[in-house]
Amino acid sequence: MIRSVVRGFGTALPKRVLTNAELESMVDTSDEWIVQRTGIQQRYIAGEGETTASLGEGAARAALDKAGLTAADIDLIIVATSTPDNTFPATAVNIQNRLGMHHGFAFDLQAVCSGFVYAVTTADAYIRGGLAKRVLVIGTETFSRILDWTDRTTCVLFGDGAGAIVLEAREGTGTNTDRGVLTTQLRSDGAHRDKLFVDGGPSTTGTVGHLRMEGREVFKHAVGMITDVVYSSFDATGLTADDIDWLVPHQANKRIIDGSAKKLGIPLEKVVVTVDQHGNTSAASIPLALAAAASDGRIKEGDIVLLEAMGGGFTWGAVLLRW
Ligand code: ACO
Repeated sequence: MIRSVVRGFGTALPKRVLTNAELESMVDTSDEWIVQRTGIQQRYIAGEGETTASLGEGAARAALDKAGLTAADIDLIIVATSTPDNTFPATAVNIQNRLGMHHGFAFDLQAVCSGFVYAVTTADAYIRGGLAKRVLVIGTETFSRILDWTDRTTCVLFGDGAGAIVLEAREGTGTNTDRGVLTTQLRSDGAHRDKLFVDGGPSTTGTVGHLRMEGREVFKHAVGMITDVVYSSFDATGLTADDIDWLVPHQANKRIIDGSAKKLGIPLEKVVVTVDQHGNTSAASIPLALAAAASDGRIKEGDIVLLEAMGGGFTWGAVLLRW
């Protein structure tokens, strides 16, 4: 059985850090409110010349370096983003060109904060289906460009950044002892569209629009949806919460992360948290957190790693893999 194994990982962040203290001078908020409600202490904000594609390129180059590969070795690039450089062409082909890659194929995938989980699932399906041997999976965002910077209920929550992994086809035994993706579980329900959306777009207003969110409504659904897909991952593999070495959740809010871990019975020492440093970077948050824990030696080869996310749509999903 073919498995999709993580061979490399990398990240890129904008130069500029925006602290909670700076936000206090921009909207009616406080460091104390932001830290207590979300756990966020700072976020990175893209400056002039920094875009979703340029950050994605940086993360991709870092992941290729770590894997000991070049763009020539890649068959497919999937970019998860809700903040593309242009309506079209896809940010993925932009990054493909920036990498000097003129073979294979590349496309964008849009599932907001669940984007990385959706992209890993898609890459795994292409690899297992024999359509690609090595896939660059990139989550990259510049949410700062779709925020309403006068709306304190949203502008304090998000940040910019990018993370990438290289997934590679390897022969496995078909059991949980294999390295690579063991199961993926995806869900969506468009009935929740109005709870988290952008109020513009090419076919409606002809503008980019701004992010709008009913935060309390999102919060209310988050833990239940996240745990639902995690339990499905356990059912599909026979693994349990006790088998998880590292939970790498989407980094939206420390309270959602803690609530989900608690409900699942995963101790907080096994949860990777970067929301304090990055804010919510949507599709980039999981690969940013993964890379942080893999580069400082927490995540080691052979570890069972659980990824989960929930976001606009609503979309939600989980990936269970052996590193
Ligand atoms: N600073 C100070 N006060 C604020 C701020 C702010 N930045 N924002 C809101 N408030 C006020 C509100 O106006 C409200 O005041 P009121 O009581 O006088 O009306 C009060 O704080 C409480 O507001 P709530 O919305 O009830 O606060 P809550 O505890 O729910 O926290 C939050 C808000 C942090 C947005 C929370 O609901 C949340 O995290 N929701 C999930 C959001 C999320 O994670 N979204 C992303 C997931 S999907 C994706 O990643 C795209």
